[in-house]
Amino acid sequence: KLRRKQVKGLMRERIPREILEVLKTVGLTAQEAGYKVYLVGGSVRDLFLRSPNLDLDLVVEGNGMDLAKKLARRLGKVRVRTHKKFQTAKLIFDDGLIIDVATARMEYYKSPAALPVIELSSLKMDLYRRDFTINTLAVSLNPKDFGLILDFFDGLRDLKGKVIRVLHNLSFVEDPTRVFRAVRFEQRFNFRIGKFTEGLIKNALKIDAFKLLTGDRLFHELENMLLEEKATDCMRRLGELNLLEVYHPKLKLSDKLEAILDSVEQVMAWYKLSFLTLPTRPWLVYFLALADPLDEAEMEQLCARLALAPRLRREIKEMRAQTLKVLNRLQRNQLSPSKVYDLLHKLKPAYQLYIMAKARQEWAKKAVSRYLGNMTKVKPLLTGDDLAGMGFDPGPLFKEILERVLAARLDGEVTTKEDELALVKSEFGSYLEKTV
Ligand code: CTP
Repeated sequence: KLRRKQVKGLMRERIPREILEVLKTVGLTAQEAGYKVYLVGGSVRDLFLRSPNLDLDLVVEGNGMDLAKKLARRLGKVRVRTHKKFQTAKLIFDDGLIIDVATARMEYYKSPAALPVIELSSLKMDLYRRDFTINTLAVSLNPKDFGLILDFFDGLRDLKGKVIRVLHNLSFVEDPTRVFRAVRFEQRFNFRIGKFTEGLIKNALKIDAFKLLTGDRLFHELENMLLEEKATDCMRRLGELNLLEVYHPKLKLSDKLEAILDSVEQVMAWYKLSFLTLPTRPWLVYFLALADPLDEAEMEQLCARLALAPRLRREIKEMRAQTLKVLNRLQRNQLSPSKVYDLLHKLKPAYQLYIMAKARQEWAKKAVSRYLGNMTKVKPLLTGDDLAGMGFDPGPLFKEILERVLAARLDGEVTTKEDELALVKSEFGSYLEKTV
């Protein structure tokens, strides 16, 4: 019951012209080589949801690697990476566009009766192996039927009904990471996991399908959720579905956990708005909050289950202890800017943000946000050259003097270079007399 529908209009409206041109070239190149090519997966889904997506997935009925090479030659300004084993290729354009090219495997099925072997559409077979109906839409790119949508599994119906639905009841057993993908898509798009599909998630949990998952894959999906704008909602939903215990048996949804995750979300939104970027390893801030209820040994188990690198594990362990100390100090009483600087400047941004999220008093939060916003840019006007010019011997003393000048500047004790010179003379002048 394949529906046939044109989406040329929607494509013209939603896809930037340069990319539409690329897609037309893809279709033309495939046609000339005698292949059929389709745009599939996330980018088609996002076309209907009207959300921009620069990761294009192509499925080729024919030779995908050959098509990728022909395209690279034709389009230029692109790097190609091929995986012979999987018959896939990746085209990476300078402007951020990525095109993944896969070859639809021809699969032949013996029909039950005495009929000869039948060949199913290899596109349909390829799509049947995917996770959710909303990810199974395909758009034909060959010139003859450019813009024709192929909807084998009622993906359009589920997009309209806002439902996450698997294609068959072994889907989560075959690939348990899909459970986390279901939650991620549900929260990102404000959809609902279908009733039957939710039942299959519960079943996967009951038979502990997750025990076969490697730490790497488990972590990767957790990271993907924590990189979502609605990371906290994803964690909340995991908690509702009792999926947090897949990471560690002690992890459960609680008011306290929700509160700290909400707080992290606010801090991340503030950071993004203020600096128009995210800190390195943004997932780590959520991760620390998620692990808040765990003691040191349990945190070790969690990190081990997720196969985090030993170096990162050590760092997290040390930093959990240190952030607590800093937090205590920050919350005891209001500190001068230079004291705040002292406490925070040796920590990486993820830990600074974690402290900001955990701080209970508004003024303690403000202290961290002021640090991140203003203090990191403050520098003394005096330089090492100035100090040498004054007669100081280069060495550890330079650092000490400049740190003192910086503290004075942060606390508003000095404004001009003359102020700084006067400060250095009065506080460090004795060293000069000794060396002269
Ligand atoms: N896929 C799958 N099972 C998985 C991972 C991926 O079936 N465990 C399929 C999905 O159908 C998806 C396609 O592979 O459409 C590409 O995967 P990915 O790029 O991860 O998904 P997107 O849907 O593009 O998601 P995102 O928007 O997060 O990039």
